[in-house]
Order: sequence, then structure tokens, then C-alpha cells
Amino acid sequence: VASSRKPFISFVLGGPGSGKGTQCEKIASIFSFAHLSAGELLREEMSSPSENGELIRNVIKEGKIVPSAITISLIKRAINSATSDKILIDGFPRSEENRIAFEKIIGVEPDLVIFFECPEEEMVKRILGRNLGRIDDNMETIRKRLKVFEDLNMPVVEHYSSKGKVHKITATGTVDEIFERVRQVFASLRPKLCLEH
Ligand code: AP5
Repeated sequence: VASSRKPFISFVLGGPGSGKGTQCEKIASIFSFAHLSAGELLREEMSSPSENGELIRNVIKEGKIVPSAITISLIKRAINSATSDKILIDGFPRSEENRIAFEKIIGVEPDLVIFFECPEEEMVKRILGRNLGRIDDNMETIRKRLKVFEDLNMPVVEHYSSKGKVHKITATGTVDEIFERVRQVFASLRPKLCLEH
């Protein structure tokens, strides 16, 4: 992180195709956050010649989740080299195990959790329409990703809900309509974040 101030960390959670990446890009540009996507970090590592590349490829292809130690070391590195002390971590933690390991290894809890709530049929429609050739964007893997989301990721949302940290956003409608809901959450945090916008 550029400064020595404790970073402001926001986890961004939601099912596959709920629009996490799309909305994070807008938040990052308008509110000057660094955007770290767990999925992107893993895809970069997957295509590098690292020893973990093949393992990551197999896990992603199966729609499962990559071992915490690998994901957290990538996130830690990205946090340390982020150019802002306001950080969005998109698509992480994926499970209670991820969450507990993050809090232990990084030593902080998130200041905020954004949760995008979206009906399954809408998420499936968006992923199938993406057409970018991701190895996990096929119906068989999408079903597994949805199940992993329900079984492993929802308990993380429930944990942070019980701590009053979750802002639930209805993730249907146009990208701009959804962003307006997100913008209101971040605008309300302005005093805390000393935002310029
Ligand atoms: P990851 O890359 O995080 O994928 P995901 O969670 O499945 O989510 P997506 O990237 O598919 O969707 P998104 O919610 O970001 O939506 P997007 O904005 O792209 O993870 C992939 C895999 O990596 C996992 O399955 C797992 O194997 C592994 N992994 C990741 N994190 C991990 C972790 N922490 N631990 C272990 N393993 C991990 O939008 C989707 C599409 O919809 C786009 O085409 C977009 O243009 C479109 N769209 C967005 N909003 C709208 C809208 N409002 N209306 C219409 N279209 C829209």
C-alpha cells in the first residue's frame, strides 16, 4: 500500500455473474479504490509458468475453490503493491476457511462488505452472454459454481451480516441502475473515507 495508513478494505461478494467485476471497475474509477479481483489474480497466476498454474487451472475448470494459501498469498502481494489505501477485494473470501485464514494472515477484518444479490437465472444468462471463452463459462461448470456459492460463500455473507458489515445491493436492472445503489453506499461513507467525490 502506498501510504503507511491502515488500508480501508471492502470485500465485494455475490454469485458468479452477479456483476461484481463490472461494478468494482466503476467504484474504483469514481471513488479511487484499488480493485483486486481474486479470480483475475488466479487467472494471471494460471497462465504464468508458476508451479501452481496447473493446479489452479484444474480447480477453476471444476468450478471449485483454490486452496486458501495460494489465494491469500496472491492477495497479500496485491495489497502490498496497491496504489491506493482504499481497496476493493472482489470475489473473496469464497468460504469460511478463506475468511478465517485472511483475518489470521493479513491481521485485519474488512471495514465493509458489499453483497450483490441476483436471481440465479439472471446470473446464468449474463455469464452465457459474456462469450469471452473463460474455461469456467460453460453450463456444467456454472452449475457447480452456483452450488459452491450457496454452500461455501453464503456462510461468509451471513457471518459479516451478523457483525453489521454487509450492505446488500439488489443486482438486477441496468449496470447504471445498480451502480446508483452502490454509489449511495460509498457516498454515505465519504466522511470515513475522506473521499474527494
Ligand atoms: P471469479 O473470476 O471471481 O468469477 P465469479 O465469482 O464466478 O464471477 P464472474 O467473474 O463470473 O462474475 P462477476 O460477478 O464478476 O460478474 P461480471 O461483472 O463479470 O472466479 C472464477 C473462479 O476462480 C472461481 O469459480 C474459483 O474457481 C476461482 N476463485 C476465485 N476466487 C477465489 C477464491 N477466493 N478462492 C479460491 N478460488 C477462487 O458480469 C458478468 C457478465 O454480465 C459480464 O459479461 C457483464 O458485462 C454482464 N453484466 C454485468 N452487469 C450486468 C447488468 N446489470 N445487466 C446485464 N449484463 C450485466
